[in-house]
Amino acid sequence: MTVPKNVVDEVKWLRDGLNLHNRNYYVWDDPKITDQEYDQLFRKLQALEQQYPELASDDSPTQRVGSMPATRFDSVEHRLPMLSLDNAFDESEMRAFEKKLSERLEPDAEPLLYTAEPKLDGLAISLVYEQGRLVQAVTRGDGRKGENITANARTIPSIPLELLRRPVPFAFEIRGEVYMDHAGFEMLNEDQKKNDAKVFANPRNAAAGSLRLLDSRITASRPLTFCSYAIGWMEDYQLKLKDSQYERMLWLRKAGFPISPYIEQVEGVSGCLDYYQRILAQRDSLAFDIDGVVFKLDSTSQQEQAGNVARAPRWAVAYKFPAQEVMTRLLDVDFRVGRTGALTPVARLEPVSVGGVMLSNATLHNMDEIHRKDVRIGDIVIVRRAGDVIPEVVSPVVAERKGDLSLPQMPAQCPVCGSDVVQQEGQAAWRCSGGLVCAAQRKEAIKHFASR
Ligand code: IVH
Repeated sequence: MTVPKNVVDEVKWLRDGLNLHNRNYYVWDDPKITDQEYDQLFRKLQALEQQYPELASDDSPTQRVGSMPATRFDSVEHRLPMLSLDNAFDESEMRAFEKKLSERLEPDAEPLLYTAEPKLDGLAISLVYEQGRLVQAVTRGDGRKGENITANARTIPSIPLELLRRPVPFAFEIRGEVYMDHAGFEMLNEDQKKNDAKVFANPRNAAAGSLRLLDSRITASRPLTFCSYAIGWMEDYQLKLKDSQYERMLWLRKAGFPISPYIEQVEGVSGCLDYYQRILAQRDSLAFDIDGVVFKLDSTSQQEQAGNVARAPRWAVAYKFPAQEVMTRLLDVDFRVGRTGALTPVARLEPVSVGGVMLSNATLHNMDEIHRKDVRIGDIVIVRRAGDVIPEVVSPVVAERKGDLSLPQMPAQCPVCGSDVVQQEGQAAWRCSGGLVCAAQRKEAIKHFASR
């Protein structure tokens, strides 16, 4: 059966429109239609593709829902190895980086210009486009070989399936990071708990786990985001790109790829240090984890002059932030009484600096969590503090456990007023039965009242 011309046209119109709205949302952060309107167009396209299967296409926005599960991932060799980055941890290491770098460049190269971006805490992937269409997505793997995760990558809304019809190279590779933001991570873990499934320790693990699922339909349900940071290789006879990493990134954005909204050109180490401080100051208010900033020599011809060492380029460096996950000892567990009398366990920690802030307590959420994580008093634990999220004990380091350590116990009496602590049937929370006799409940009730 031949498909009527008006249907062919409508399907094309819907696909182009959905791609455009996707770009407005993910690349330009400027949606022009509501989610409902987007869904309507999406369902219209789905219906037409069902009615006319001969119009099916891997590039269709409807393919973002995932496909039949695979039995394994094929291993794919990267045409260009995916290098790693050298780290700097302080100002003197940044100066040493620039000094070594300028020794490799012409004497008059200074002041050096860099492209600066946050270092996203996710996973590097490689995307290959041919004639403007996504044909392959591969994880970084060991840098030489990775896993073919094309079906999963297609489900990530911010990865373009089809590029704008403007001059783009005949074939090229884009590199970038797949990550999960805080809101998505919290939502996913809530879901996992409800379904008695594995809870992820941090957004990075959640992103890695989600990207490496054999069933891309599940990946489609995971809140993953992509941000590009480099062009890998390129095959083209005509297209000449500018001799600037920064200009190339702007070019990528125009072609339909999301790039970091924080990207900047900075001059010399002083420009790098200033950028580092500015991004560090914003770290806690960002919607996603970053573990530092990356500086790349801006001029691509200078990059070539500088070259690579085995595992990393000489022309780039990751200036790392203080870690958001650290280890310390769990000294004891106290119980805090809330407004409704619910007792929540609070970890008392050996004071430790996390992400640049000293911590001596962190939440353990509730007794179920303590049992699920099997956290014992005296354990070395991993503590995490990220964004606006309350600092929490992620897990014990079981390998470090020595001797018989005991699980924290819910006290029989309220630590504040001494009333009995009771658990109502069918409820997870344990509560102080003292009501307003309990000073803690009174105080919280007044605070609550005053805030309304
Ligand atoms: S550039 C040759 N830029 O950091 C340059 N990497 O330690 C290679 N990463 O595997 C990487 N944000 O997963 C670059 N803006 C950024 C990045 C970034 C995160 C990750 C990436 C890479 C690792 C290197």
